[in-house]
Order: sequence, then C-alpha cells, then structure tokens
Amino acid sequence: MLVGKRILLVIGGGIAAYKSLELIRRLQDRGATVRAILTKAGTEFVTPLSVGSLTGDKVFQELFSLTDENDMGHIELSRDADLMVVAPATADLMAKMANGHSNDLASTALLATDKRVLIAPAMNVRMWLHPATQRNLATLRGDGVSVVGPNDGSMACGEFGPGRMAEVPEIIAAIEAMMANPAVSHPLKGRKVVVTSGPTREAIDPVRYISNHSSGKQGHAIARAAAEAGAEVTLVTGPVAIPDPVGVNVVHVESARDMLAAVEKALPAAIAVFAAAVADWRVADVAGGKIKKGAGGPPSLAFVENPDILATVAGLKAGRPDLVVGFAAETDNVIDNARAKLARKGCDLIVANDVATGTGTFGGDANTVHLVTPDGVETWARQSKDEVARALVARLADRLGKT
Ligand code: CTP
Repeated sequence: MLVGKRILLVIGGGIAAYKSLELIRRLQDRGATVRAILTKAGTEFVTPLSVGSLTGDKVFQELFSLTDENDMGHIELSRDADLMVVAPATADLMAKMANGHSNDLASTALLATDKRVLIAPAMNVRMWLHPATQRNLATLRGDGVSVVGPNDGSMACGEFGPGRMAEVPEIIAAIEAMMANPAVSHPLKGRKVVVTSGPTREAIDPVRYISNHSSGKQGHAIARAAAEAGAEVTLVTGPVAIPDPVGVNVVHVESARDMLAAVEKALPAAIAVFAAAVADWRVADVAGGKIKKGAGGPPSLAFVENPDILATVAGLKAGRPDLVVGFAAETDNVIDNARAKLARKGCDLIVANDVATGTGTFGGDANTVHLVTPDGVETWARQSKDEVARALVARLADRLGKT
C-alpha cells in the first residue's frame, strides 16, 4: 500500500525517538521512501548517523544549511513528500505547529507543507494533560492534522498514564489509512453544506433576552469537519463565545427568525445540519423601551412559537437539500423522543444527545450520540465533539455518495 510513497519523518526530542528508527525500517519494508528531519533535541536521543544509515539519505537538520544552492530548499523538502509524519511529536513541537512557529527546520517544513500531516505525540503524562497541550492538540485537529496516540502506559519518567507514543504498527496503520484513498480526505469537494450552531436570543426589550446554554461547540466542529472534507460551508450561528472556524463562511445571527432567513439565503446545499439550539418561543410583543420595575409588579410575558428551521427546510418542495440532519437535545427518553422528532420534522437523520444535568454535554468537549434514522438507531461511544463531527461528516459524505 505504501509502495512508491514518500514520507518525510520529523523526529522530535523524546525518549520515544528510538521507536522512530524502527518506524523507518517498517515503512521501507512496505515500499515507502523515508526522508528524515532530526530536531536539535532529537539528536540527544538518536544520532544523525543512525537515522541516515537507515534512510540511506542525508539527515536534514539545519534550516539555514538548506538555503545552500546545492541543497534542497525547505519548501521543496516538504512539497516533495506525500505525507509528513512527526514521531515523536513532543509538547514543544506541537506548540510550535499549533502557533505557526518557523524557527528551525522541522517547524518551518511543517508550516510550509501542503501535504497531510500525522503526529504521534509522546511526552510526560502531566505535559500531555496540561491545558496548554490540550489546547494545542485541539488547534492542530482543527487545522486538519491527524493524530495517532498517545497510549496509556508506564513511562520512562516513572509515571503512568497517557503520553506513551503509539507503537510502530499503530503508526503504520494510521499512515496506511491516510494513504488508502487520497480522495477520501475530500469526499465533499464541490458540495455545499449549511450548518446551524449555538443558541438563539429572543429579545424581551432592548436590554434583555431569552436564550439557552448552547455553546456552539458541536455545530462549529461539524462546520469545520465539513470544510476539512472539502465542502463549501456556510455556518449560521447564534451568539457564542468560541471563535469562527477557519475556512468557513460564517453568518452571525441573533434570533430564530434571523437564523431561518440566513439559512434560506445559504441554500441550495447538498447537506444541511441543524445543530443550533433554537429558542422554541419568542416574546409576542417586544417592548420598544426598557421595561421598568414598576408598581405593577413583574411583567407577564406572552409567547409565540418561532418558525421551526429544520422542519421548514426538510419540508421544502423545491431545493430541499439531499440530506437534512437534525439534532435532538433531550433530558429524558432520548431515543423515543428522537424517533418522534425524525418523523415530525421530516428529516433524514437525527443526532440525539442527552443534555441532562450531569452529562456535561452542554458546554463540554465530549458527546455521546445516537444516530436515529428510519432504519434504526446506532449508538456511538463517548468521544470528543470534534470526533463526533468528523465521524458524522464521513457518514454523511458516504450517504451522499450513494444517493
Ligand atoms: N430546530 C429548528 N428550529 C426550531 C427548533 C428546533 O431548526 N425552531 C431544530 C434544532 O436545530 C434541532 C432540532 O430542531 O436540530 C430539534 O431541536 P429540539 O430543541 O431538540 O426540538 P424541538 O422541536 O424544540 O422539540 P422539544 O423542544 O419539544 O424537544
């Protein structure tokens, strides 16, 4: 599967660097050509001589020596490869990648590449679990970097937990999966996708509103995953505290009615995913001025129902997206309620999640979802919202391919 493939391996400075020597051999066994960049810290763990003896090539180490006329430039070095693999990916290398640093050859080549990148993190468990590393990991995932490991286990430093670099066969399997079909990485190329995300805000008066706890994390992750899959994505989002995803056309709205108008404007699309927590009701008569505390006591508010954006789009006679996906945020009878919603709203798939207090779904980074279709229910293991997004987008791309 790897015959003729060119892999540029970046070896960072960690005790796991010794496994990278084995990785080079096993990649070569499968017919790949490996070139290696060894970071300065990497030379503390493996020598350029051992790396070069295995690759049968020059070991690239210095940024500025590559500017010599006789040498290959750093841009060319990364462009020449089919895939870049960083193993071990230290906390420092991940931080550099996440922040776009380019102060040595490894970080410069990683910034200059237009190829897919796989990282195999390896570090002390505290370093791995540190919020800074987890933030960098999320950024890298958002940038489309693939990650293998780390595994749980005892580490050279004597601690136990996540931080051990993935084993060589696992890294090879990840590389093979990425190489298996280059088209798989962009299965939604040329397709339009509309995603709603976040809460809506329904005004009471010019200073007050009714809203909900939706963070927008799941919807934004879906928009990002669809963009990574090559789609042209419009994300219609209510007010959230998280940044706009990169490479996505973002429309900011407040109310449910604004959201519907923005979605209609973004159509036609092949796929529409409604992840927003839309307020079901709005205040019937929004006060023109701030409601004052008066002698009359608290105001009583009358409500009217908001348009159902999902049901409206799913029910379109002309220009209905090929796949219309709803979410069901439930606190009780999750699956039964989701089944009922699927039928009532006329969509093709409902992603049901339990948002009861204590599940940590609202605002959290992980989600346990059930995919409900007319054919049945599939429950996915608890995973990060980014993983749910990628898996969902892959599933939708697959279904679209079959329509
Ligand atoms: N939805 C929508 N427009 C609305 C209400 C909901 O597009 N006005 C979408 C949501 O984005 C979600 C799905 O409908 O994809 C289900 O939302 P949910 O709040 O769970 O369902 P409701 O219809 O509001 O039902 P209920 O509140 O009774 O559970």
